[in-house]
Amino acid sequence: MYFSKLIATGSCVPAQVITNDRLSEMVDTSDEWIQSRSGIGKRHFSTGENASDLAIGTAKDVLRKCDIRPEDIELIIVATVSGDYTTPSVACLVQAAIGATNALAFDISAACSGFVFGLSVADKFIKTGVYRNALVIGTEVLSKYINFEDRSTCVLFGDGSGGAMVVRSDEPGILCEEVGSDGAKGLSLTCGHVPAASPYNQVERGTDPYIHMDGRAIFDFATRAVPKSVQKLLEKAGVSTEEIDLVVPHQANSRIVEIISRKLHIPMEKFYLNMFEYANTSSATIPIALNELAEKGQLTEGKLILLCGFGAGLTWGSMLIRL
Ligand code: UT7
Repeated sequence: MYFSKLIATGSCVPAQVITNDRLSEMVDTSDEWIQSRSGIGKRHFSTGENASDLAIGTAKDVLRKCDIRPEDIELIIVATVSGDYTTPSVACLVQAAIGATNALAFDISAACSGFVFGLSVADKFIKTGVYRNALVIGTEVLSKYINFEDRSTCVLFGDGSGGAMVVRSDEPGILCEEVGSDGAKGLSLTCGHVPAASPYNQVERGTDPYIHMDGRAIFDFATRAVPKSVQKLLEKAGVSTEEIDLVVPHQANSRIVEIISRKLHIPMEKFYLNMFEYANTSSATIPIALNELAEKGQLTEGKLILLCGFGAGLTWGSMLIRL
């Protein structure tokens, strides 16, 4: 039996920063409303970079920080809902760009839980001895799906990418997970609908690229599903909340995180929040946060980290990691 461990993180975000005030020039909103309702202060928007460009930037950043050559990477998993193409996958574009000629590469679609799902899949491949390492990336250019006339969604999302290298280890790193899906509620958050139109049916051509969200339904889901998932996870792992050093939640809304903190009796000081800077970058929020923590010197050996993803699908994923 092998274990898997995170050994390096990286990230890449577009340089262009759009403040709440800038958005309020376009829709009827305000910095006060956005900050008080979501904790978001700004977001980074692409100036043309696509999801793969950001993922490639992340891959190079991760590789700079670990002793693994591109040709030695065995698995590349990219979590994204905003890939450049339907096919090829972003993972294959990353593979080609960095020269990871010996890797298996594929994408997974699990929106804001995508990075945790990606780690979960990588963990299985490593624990079963199939691969010795995996590069897991979350990358999104959500700006291409935002309806900039819809104030209820356009203020919430951003673009960015983050990732981590996971390797085979003698000591436990990824300790335990609790992941799940509830497709029955899936239509409360959708993005990019493509109808099945062809000359051989009556379906009208034309795609709806935009994000549509029942914000209240997702808010209720997140504040119910995440605490339940974490409680199950801690029971499974035999870990108490006091033992957790840091919580890295999906960065959708600071009010959601405050409710999760209250319900789990884990103080807010243990939660890392950066939605003020990046807004909600879906699959990229957790790895961007992990990389910031690493750069601040807070991911020191031995710490116990809790990751909590939740979002479209609907999906959720909680994971305990020993550094
Ligand atoms: O990562 C995927 C998961 N996504 C999430 O986790 C998002 C979950 N949902 C949320 O974070 C919150 O529901 C929102 C931030 C989206 C909205 O907050 P809310 O407290 O649920 O507000 P609401 O939708 O109930 O809207 C309250 C009011 C409405 O006006 P009326 O009907 O009370 O007059 C909205 O029209 O706020 C209005 N409103 C806005 N006002 C100014 C909605 N968007 C805006 C806006 N600026 N941008």
